[in-house]
Parts: sequence; structure tokens; C-alpha cells
Amino acid sequence: MHPSRFHRRDFLALLGSLGATALAQAVPALALAETATPEGAGASDPWMTDFDAALLRHDWSLGWRTPAGDLKGVAKVEGKFPAAVTGVLYRNGPAGHDLGGLRYHHWFDGDGMIQRFEISQDAVLHTGRFVQTDKRIAEVGQGRRLVEAFGTKLPDRIAVTSPDTLNTANTSVLLLNDELLALWEGGSAVALDPVTLATRGVKTWRPDLKAMPFSAHPRVDRDGVVWNFGVGSTKDVLIVYKIGAKGDLQRAELVPVKDVPMIHDFAMTERHLVFLMPPLVIEAERLMTSSFLDAHRWRPELGMRVLVIDKDDFGRRSEFELPAGFLFHLGNAWEDDAGQIRVNYVRADQPDFIFGDARLVMRGRYQSTPATKLAVATLDLKSGRATQEILPIEAEFPRIDYRFNGKRYRDVFHITLALDGRPGFAAVAKTNIETGANERYEYGRSRLVEEHVFVADGSGPGWLIGTSLDVTSGLTVLSCFSAADLASGPVAVATLPYALPLGFHGNFQRT
Ligand SMILES: [Fe+2]
Repeated sequence: MHPSRFHRRDFLALLGSLGATALAQAVPALALAETATPEGAGASDPWMTDFDAALLRHDWSLGWRTPAGDLKGVAKVEGKFPAAVTGVLYRNGPAGHDLGGLRYHHWFDGDGMIQRFEISQDAVLHTGRFVQTDKRIAEVGQGRRLVEAFGTKLPDRIAVTSPDTLNTANTSVLLLNDELLALWEGGSAVALDPVTLATRGVKTWRPDLKAMPFSAHPRVDRDGVVWNFGVGSTKDVLIVYKIGAKGDLQRAELVPVKDVPMIHDFAMTERHLVFLMPPLVIEAERLMTSSFLDAHRWRPELGMRVLVIDKDDFGRRSEFELPAGFLFHLGNAWEDDAGQIRVNYVRADQPDFIFGDARLVMRGRYQSTPATKLAVATLDLKSGRATQEILPIEAEFPRIDYRFNGKRYRDVFHITLALDGRPGFAAVAKTNIETGANERYEYGRSRLVEEHVFVADGSGPGWLIGTSLDVTSGLTVLSCFSAADLASGPVAVATLPYALPLGFHGNFQRT
């Protein structure tokens, strides 16, 4: 058998060899240690007092405030939402940052809250509900944190029996077969009722896959097939999933990857899955004394490895190398008849944000870090050579017209415009990655702009909808733009009667 090929029998054997407790070490977020340092675990956590003080000094801190509870409100609408945009925008993000006098030390740690915007042409109704994960139920029940988080080292006060003991379900959403999945990346997806947002429970694709990592960035093929992956950090494996449009698991295999790093997102062409692997690699021995994040070491000597996997045979793989760099997100990928894959992503030279501002904002602080830029890499399947071009365009949260998933495309929608003196971005943009042509709408200094998603409208140019937090008014705003004319500003705006905590990713479902 090809040494890099695993099938179900091997998968079961591997899981069996891990054993019930050792399974924890195979997956992210399971940095377990009874002797964890209790930093920040006391009643007088300085992060909490620092943040409370910052709320008075820096208006942008509002984006990281913990809501008092679930939310329900009616937006004030100006303009008219297009008929194609009538439906529901779901978003997810960390919202439960504080509990029992302790504030998490990293943005990515908080308990997930789903935001549901029910959009009709003249009205927008909003509901926000915390995902009732086992972790949240247990911790809220006791009024204190019981387990550690991605970037905050805490003593585990309850037995951590699987990755889902730590699952915050806080990163994105996927609508699949009339079910709303709240996605994390270190463990299971969590199923919710798409109307009420009531939590149904963790999603288990197959009994032997229970609690295995399932990333927050699945890719949906044009035939509805869902591709996804999970990272088995300390076991040097990537788990690759293929799920049918009806939610039926069609394949799940382990792919061995030496020094498998932190991988947050991937892309796909019609034939291949493409993983860009920044050299941020876990050192298992550091898990005893460090948070999961801090157990990782930046190893630029590894370069940015690229793993390309054949969709039809996970054993057929190619590897490439790009200059070292860090990324969270990819836009899209496609390949031409000559065997060249083009993949675009949002690149940073180093993991400044994840170790810097993503942590500092939790105590109301901020440091200027170089803005991330759009990049386009070319992978030549015949020669094995990889090159890349970095566009001089600041970007995060790239999205495309999903009808071009895996196919040649030109336009990437993204947020842009980092400003001095505050974190985040202040504009939304469309960039043609072939010509570099760029068009944007500047919300202005008072806005923290979140991801905007594309909504198709027949053969027309479609729409772009997304949220921003107005830190001056203290209100969250949902805006809708013509995808063909961002610069003219929104055609419709819905202002909520409150601020939502800044989140990560969303998806739109037409009704
Ligand atoms: Fe993400």
C-alpha cells in the first residue's frame, strides 16, 4: 500500500492505538495539563479591569464586549433590500468572553453566538443566541470557566474526555440539509435549528469520527458536495472529509503530514484540494505549560508548504513550497489545461495578528501590525514549481461568487483599509485578481467592518451583504451593495438597536 494512503481500516486502527485518553492529544485544542498555570484565573483578573477601562477610552473596544445574553431586535431600515437578498444571513463569532470575573486572553476563545438576520425588502429582524455547547452549559451552570481555551491557559476543573469538552462552536456556519451547523475547528460541528437557533447537539458524521476536528471552512462544490478537513496537530495528520449534499458522509480519510501546522482554511479546484501550510507548528511538550496557541512555534525555515490532494484519490498528492508566510483565509483556486493551479489567499509575512492584536484587543489594547495583503500563487503540477505575486491591496475575509468555486474567476470581495490608531478594517472592496483593479466603499473611521458575503441574483451581477459596527453610535449595521458598484455605497441599510460583538464568518440562505 502507498505509505501515504489511509483507508477506513487504518483510520480505525489509528484511533484505536490512540486510546480513549490519548485521543485528546491527536487533535487541536486539547492542550491538557493538570498543572496548568492559573494565570488570569483569579477573581481580580487584570484583563477584565483593563478592558473595562478601555471601554471608556477607546470606542473600538465595544467590538469585544460580552453581550449580557441572547438578543432579539428589529432593525431600522433605510432603502430597500433587493428581492434576491430576502432570506437569512447567519453569522458566527466569539461572544462569551467573560465569565465569573475572568476574561479570556484571546479573541478566538469566546463562546460562540449565532447572529440571525431575517431580511425582507423593508424589514430586518435580528436574533442572537449563544450556542449551547456542553462547555457553555457546564461553565455557565457553575458561573466560572472549567476548561482551558485556544489562547488562554487555565486549569481544567472537569475531566476533558474529548475535544468537544472544549468546543466553543464560535467560528462559522454551514447550512446543510436544513440544518444549521455552528463550526469550530478543533472538534465537532454543532447542529442548531436554523429558525430558532436552538442547539441540537454535536454532529457525528460516523461513529469512529466522533469529536474529530472539523474545520470552520468547509468548501461546497457546485454539485452541493461539501469538502472539509481537520488538523490532528500532534499526530501529524490531516483528516479529509467528503460529505454529500444531503449531509451523508461519503469519505473520510487520514492524510499524514509531517509537522502539520495550524491550518485554518483551504481551497479547491475542480480536481484538487489545496492546503497552504504556514510554518506555525505545534510542539507537543509545550502543551503542559502553554495554551494551545502558545505551544506553537514559528518555523520559517519550513517555508509555506503547499499540499495538493486529488479529490478522487487522497493518496495522489503533490507538494510545493512558497516563501514562508502566514494566512488564515483563501479566496478560491482553479486550474488550467496546462496543469497550473492558481490559488489566491490573504497573506502576512508573520503570524503577528494571532499572537498580537487578537490577544491585545481583549484587554483594550492595540499595536499596529502590517496589514495582510491579497496574494496569488501559481502551482505548476508538471514541474512542481510554485511562484506567487503579492498584490499591494490590504485584505481580510475574502469571499467570491460561490458559483465559481473551483473555477476560473476574477473578482474577490474582501474587507480592506487598516487605519492608524485602531484595529480592524474600515472599507469593503472588490479586487480583480488578474488585473489588480480595485473598487471600494469606505465606511469610515467610526466603523469596524466585518465579512461581506456574495448573494447571487440570476444572471445579474449580484449583491454583497455584510455587517459593520458603528463604534460612535454603538450600533451594528447590516448593509447591502450592488456587487457591480460598491463605490456608490449601500442600496439598503439596516441598523440594529444594539451592538453585536465582532464575529468572523457567515453565510446567506435565500428564502
Ligand atoms: Fe476563518
